[in-house]
Amino acid sequence: MTYENLIIERDGGVAVVRINRPSALNALNLDTIKELTEVVREMEEDTNLKVVVLTGEGKAFIAGADIKQMAGFTPLEARRFAGMGHHLLDMVEASRMPYIAAVNGFALGGGCEVMMACDIVLASTKAKIGQPEINLGISPGFGGTQRLTRHVGRFKAKELLLTGDSITADEALELGLVNRVVEPDLLMDEAMELARKIASKSAVQTAFIKDLVNRGADIDLSTANALEISYFSSSFSTHDQKEGMRAFMEKRKPEFKDE
Ligand code: CAA
Repeated sequence: MTYENLIIERDGGVAVVRINRPSALNALNLDTIKELTEVVREMEEDTNLKVVVLTGEGKAFIAGADIKQMAGFTPLEARRFAGMGHHLLDMVEASRMPYIAAVNGFALGGGCEVMMACDIVLASTKAKIGQPEINLGISPGFGGTQRLTRHVGRFKAKELLLTGDSITADEALELGLVNRVVEPDLLMDEAMELARKIASKSAVQTAFIKDLVNRGADIDLSTANALEISYFSSSFSTHDQKEGMRAFMEKRKPEFKDE
């Protein structure tokens, strides 16, 4: 499928999805959300793919949901729009593949919400991150109140949400909202290096680990630990466990088959 607002590139097991509406700072309108939903679904079915890197064209990662389009929404249309955003980000979070956000610039509102649904976040020193919805007379609609609270805790989340202020990449690093801060010229190189490294692991285990961390964080410890025991034991029915342990004992690199 061809996309009007996305550029998709492939590099072995890594897909790079670039949001491409630079004249609107990559704001998420209905069409872009539909295209993202479609590409996430397509990539999920492509068993040759193992990691996704998400970034933006131009000076923004994503400057939020499209304010010009939202301005005329009825409450029902706004509800449908928020539902579509949530559905997309739930798919990213539930994906078998790790998603790396390479945050090249503004990640505001819906952009911060997309970033927070990813698994690892690399931010350029040019990034500006925040949830400015309150300045538009609305509250966040794609999970901002919930994912931000889970990532940084209630006090910091409320400060960011209630002031609408954006923060720098370094401030986001201090809050634990991003993994690393990178010089702009090196952002995609570092993102690709990280993506290739993760793509070299067993895809069975990258899916297991992502699932365990995401699900475990939202349930009680004892249930989460039971889930870990269950995934751990089922790992022993995989080729990759046998190969990984054999390679260790034979002092060579493992050759995983993702099965
Ligand atoms: N929606 C629609 N268009 C947007 C946009 C958005 N979220 N953000 C930027 N644009 C457009 C601007 O309107 C402008 O278009 P025109 O040239 O046609 O006027 C173009 O992108 C360039 O933007 P600026 O001239 O404003 O660029 P700047 O560098 O001066 O400022 C900015 C950059 C600080 C990011 C500023 O554009 C801005 O504040 N954008 C809005 C950010 C925002 O409020 N995001 C939250 C949206 S609500 C949301 O996301 C709800 C949700 O949770 C689902």
